[in-house]
Amino acid sequence: MMKMVNPFSWNGSGRRGLSFGSPRVPNSPRVGFYRKSLVSRSFEILIVICLLLSFLIAMGCGYIYVFPNLSQAIHAYGVLPDNSSIATCDVFEGNWIRDTSYPLYNGSECPFAEQGFNCLANGRKDDEYLKWRWKPYSCDIPRFNVHKILEGLRGKRIVFVGDSMSRTQWESLICLLMTGVEDKKSVYEVNGNKITKQIRFLGVRFGSFNFTVEFYRSVYLVQPGPKPRHSPKRVKWTLKLDNLDDISRQWIDSDVLIFNTGQWWNEGKLFETGGYFQVGGPPVKLGMQITTGFRTALATWASWVETMVNTNRTKVFFRTFEPSHWSDQGRRRFCNMTQEPISETKGKDQSPFSDIISEVVKNMTVPVTILRVTRMGAFRSDAHVGRWSDARSVVDCSHWCLPGVPDMWNEIVFSYLLLNDGF
Ligand SMILES: *[C@@H]1O[C@H](CO)[C@@H](O)[C@H](O)[C@H]1NC(C)=O
Ligand SMILES: *[C@@H]1O[C@H](CO)[C@@H](O)[C@H](O)[C@H]1NC(C)=O
Ligand SMILES: *[C@@H]1O[C@H](CO)[C@@H](O)[C@H](O)[C@H]1NC(C)=O
Ligand SMILES: *[C@@H]1O[C@H](CO)[C@@H](O)[C@H](O)[C@H]1NC(C)=O
Ligand SMILES: *[C@@H]1O[C@H](CO)[C@@H](O)[C@H](O)[C@H]1NC(C)=O
Ligand SMILES: *[C@@H]1O[C@H](CO)[C@@H](O)[C@H](O)[C@H]1NC(C)=O
Repeated sequence: MMKMVNPFSWNGSGRRGLSFGSPRVPNSPRVGFYRKSLVSRSFEILIVICLLLSFLIAMGCGYIYVFPNLSQAIHAYGVLPDNSSIATCDVFEGNWIRDTSYPLYNGSECPFAEQGFNCLANGRKDDEYLKWRWKPYSCDIPRFNVHKILEGLRGKRIVFVGDSMSRTQWESLICLLMTGVEDKKSVYEVNGNKITKQIRFLGVRFGSFNFTVEFYRSVYLVQPGPKPRHSPKRVKWTLKLDNLDDISRQWIDSDVLIFNTGQWWNEGKLFETGGYFQVGGPPVKLGMQITTGFRTALATWASWVETMVNTNRTKVFFRTFEPSHWSDQGRRRFCNMTQEPISETKGKDQSPFSDIISEVVKNMTVPVTILRVTRMGAFRSDAHVGRWSDARSVVDCSHWCLPGVPDMWNEIVFSYLLLNDGF
């Protein structure tokens, strides 16, 4: 089960109509019974059975008539096992199954899929990697219903915060949504900016639907700062673990807020560049381990959410670590990709960062939904950018092609949002 507190409330309203099973309308098994009775019993019994059947059908129709929302919900969510639904099933426990109806969009027709992630356009020849769908063991993730979602987003503001993995999810969502927009020119970046790796803010407005999908680059979520005076020579900059990033005030008045961090919490990006942790004033915490720093930063993030975000309005998500598929050989590392998802996660379904995120969120007093994507990504050594980025000389076993895995993250986000009234 997902570790969440009141996970499905939107504008304070409760969930509705999804955790119970489908109403039973008489169907084919009863026909078998009917035939047997016809052969072996008298005509009178047949009449009794017909009456009984009519009664049951009338009851079933009456039920759907009285509870139209329930029947809509069931249509929207497809056929689910009687005792299961998206609301009660763990959508992150499952496997990838082939589905040739994917991908959901063409990256070359989406101006917001950055060139570096559009693997087909960059020369990848096999396209099998596009035809997989994540299937939870005990339910189905509803397919991205673009028209319903576009309507649901009217007047809203979706904000992604984090590193380039968040940028990918932001791009994916815009591409998914654009498939339902007729006038593509009505979708634009609010400052006319192009997507680049360092840019701190990108906001795409869907003019005809009056909503924006925004991305804030904040790779650590907490505030980087200059080297304090009198600190050792190896210190070039610090990460202030007790201060959230200074752009965080921009994230507050949103309807959906999706965070990630993790890819930048390593020695290469921190200590080897002279970056060390700081909590409060100097001195710099030279000996603090990366996981301890991560935990401290997440605690800062958690108390920021609890005090600054109105979770009656804002639905908050945190995505766990996205596994990469580098293979280390001595001092070199290779990006050996497969053509299909692998069947073993080889330990990549676990990450200390993902565990810390779960622990911190469990302790929070407001609802936050964890998008536990670590395990599902662990199978997808076929879905990274690999050699098919815009810079041919650089291989990339960390980022994902678009279309691809991040589309599934978005389908999962909307499977949660669609459970709510008013969406
Ligand atoms: C639903 O029913 C199936 C088969 O009867 C059973 O294996 C499964 O554990 C049940 N799931 C829940 C959540 O009760
Ligand atoms: C995607 O769109 C481009 C440009 O319209 C087209 O050339 C290409 O064949 C399409 N690719 C797929 C896989 O449909
Ligand atoms: C657009 O959405 C905002 C809320 O974000 C709302 O105040 C405004 O009235 C909406 N405009 C139109 C034209 O619907
Ligand atoms: C959120 O909703 C709860 C219950 O409806 C209410 O008690 C609380 O004051 C609300 N908080 C804000 C910030 O509006
Ligand atoms: C990965 O590829 C490199 C070079 O292409 C090769 O030398 C190496 O053995 C491969 N490693 C694995 C684990 O397959
Ligand atoms: C959760 O809260 C408990 C009690 O306040 C505290 O002891 C524990 O360290 C917290 N855990 C995390 C991961 O913040």
